[in-house]
Amino acid sequence: MKANKEVTGNLYHPPKSIVRKANVKDYDSMYKRSVEDREGFWADEAKKLKWYKKWTQVLDDSNKPFYKWFTGGKINIVANAIDRHLETHRRNKVAMIWEGEPGDVKVMSYHALNREVSKFANVLKSMGVKKGEIVTIYMPQIPELPIAMLACAKIGAMHSVVYGGFSVEALAGRIADANSRVLITADGGWRRGKITDLKSIANEAMDRSPTIEVCITVKRTGQEVHMENDRDFWYHDLQSLPIASSKCKTEVMDAEDPLFILFTSGTTGKPKGLVHTHGGYSVYTSTTHRYVFDIKDEDRWWCAADPGWITGHSYLVYGPLINGSTIILYEGAPNHPYPNRWWSMIEKYGITILYTSPTAIRGLMRFGEQWPKRHDLSSLRLLGSVGEPINPEAWRWYHEVIGNSECPIMDTWWQTETGGMMIAPLPITPLKPGSATKPLFGVEVGIVDEDGKEVKPGEEGKLVIKAPWPGMARTVFGDPDRYVETYWKEYEKQGWYKAGDSARIDEDGYIWIIGRIDDVIKVSGYRLGTAEVESALVSHPDVSEAAAIALPHEVKGNAIHTYVILKAGVTGDKKLEEDLRKHVSEEMGPIARPDSVTFAESLPKTRSGKIMRRVLKARALGMDEGDLSTLED
Ligand code: PRX
Repeated sequence: MKANKEVTGNLYHPPKSIVRKANVKDYDSMYKRSVEDREGFWADEAKKLKWYKKWTQVLDDSNKPFYKWFTGGKINIVANAIDRHLETHRRNKVAMIWEGEPGDVKVMSYHALNREVSKFANVLKSMGVKKGEIVTIYMPQIPELPIAMLACAKIGAMHSVVYGGFSVEALAGRIADANSRVLITADGGWRRGKITDLKSIANEAMDRSPTIEVCITVKRTGQEVHMENDRDFWYHDLQSLPIASSKCKTEVMDAEDPLFILFTSGTTGKPKGLVHTHGGYSVYTSTTHRYVFDIKDEDRWWCAADPGWITGHSYLVYGPLINGSTIILYEGAPNHPYPNRWWSMIEKYGITILYTSPTAIRGLMRFGEQWPKRHDLSSLRLLGSVGEPINPEAWRWYHEVIGNSECPIMDTWWQTETGGMMIAPLPITPLKPGSATKPLFGVEVGIVDEDGKEVKPGEEGKLVIKAPWPGMARTVFGDPDRYVETYWKEYEKQGWYKAGDSARIDEDGYIWIIGRIDDVIKVSGYRLGTAEVESALVSHPDVSEAAAIALPHEVKGNAIHTYVILKAGVTGDKKLEEDLRKHVSEEMGPIARPDSVTFAESLPKTRSGKIMRRVLKARALGMDEGDLSTLED
């Protein structure tokens, strides 16, 4: 391992070669301008995009917290992610390199991407898809997934991408919430050498979804699947019909027209669909991608997240395509067939930036450095991390073994709700392992106590955002009250956005994210609600009550541990324990499978009947249980 010569104290200074070429040379002055003249700053960034009509107002805050950005402006995200590149040298530039798990490869130029997207957009139109309707997409990581997203956006339809690892129940619930008439899926996908049987799950979900009229299936794995007359169509059949012309006009949208909804778990009840827009989201994702990752035309950008999550939406698909980057998409598992899969792809495609999660790093770290050492990773110049706090050990391994002690790590803090990165370094920022460093341009962060008073350096407080930004979610789909209640109520007086995370700030102004303070659990970077896990357990016929908590896990960051009270007459045994874990996995998807199920006689509750999860957690960790005065029993 090469020692980094540029470490002073615990500060990692970026190599001079990176600083010299960086797009931003002076963070402080640019940050100052961005908050002192917020609208001017964002107007300048917005001018870098293609608008059909310029906005009349940058920020409309007349109906807080329902902020509007670039009102009066006409735009379409696809006009920026594809159309405008066709008029430049980028027409023939590689837009996407895709590798399937079995090793098949597809490479697409911007010209080819435009053809596929336009053809599919025409197909969707021929199926009667209208501006504003929500198309649900449930797919593996294949090129047709971003193509479907872009095709919807092109004709002004919204997409709702449901992660391909979700279960029947989760898919059906999201189809119902979105009122979708059209579902786009695939026969299957490859994962660890096995086929994930997506179409069967989709079929079962559709049986429960009276709104679905049309299902379009991409043939990926080729196994026999059930197709229903009048409802089911093969993607490739449709793409070869005359209606699938490669000419399709990109719909002119209002800046504030919704682009997509994406469901994410919250504190209570069912997952909520966050709404993002064409205008502000285009500006925000492309600006943050360009500055944080110092994007150059020759980059090969690999965001290894699934397109089904916000990271995939913002930084696999939209942000990088708007910036004209070459994006990499990989279908399968990082350790299939061997733990060098990712490293061999970096070498093979000359990838320059890798953006992934601490969980993935920790998972690959376990196999030892002999796997990356077999490959030439010298094309890499920057690394990124997202989704959960990165522990210093994983940070150092990523930096030294993968980045050859030369690639700075951009630890980026953000959320489904924020649309894009909020706290993150730039390539010129001296780094501290485990800190997401400082707020990005236009982002005003506070770490405050219950009353909204800034806490002292080193103290833990709640993370709030004090001013609006263009990438912010506009509302919770169909439930504006929940949007206000969840994010804006607590600091209503001040008008601040509550992130739901706790954090501290150090003497140098570096921000350290600690974790969620609500009942959201981050397992392997995936976001789950304790309430969802609990209601999945309670839906089992033998369970009367359940509680779920997160406990630390070496690779996953957190693991789900559950406590259940069984119905009278039922006895808990190993088999039932296994059944319950399986049941949760079937209800929500394998990512939600609890690590343990403990049978209990009672659960600690407040007098008003709320489960005190912190008591369960403290007990499990052998820690002080804290104030028990509100405990019922
Ligand atoms: O707790 C924070 C954690 O992930 C949450 C947001 O989850 P989600 O909406 O799924 O979006 C994940 C990808 C943007 C946050 O509230 N989180 C995200 N990034 C970081 C992080 N925690 C620490 N450090 C990060 N870099």
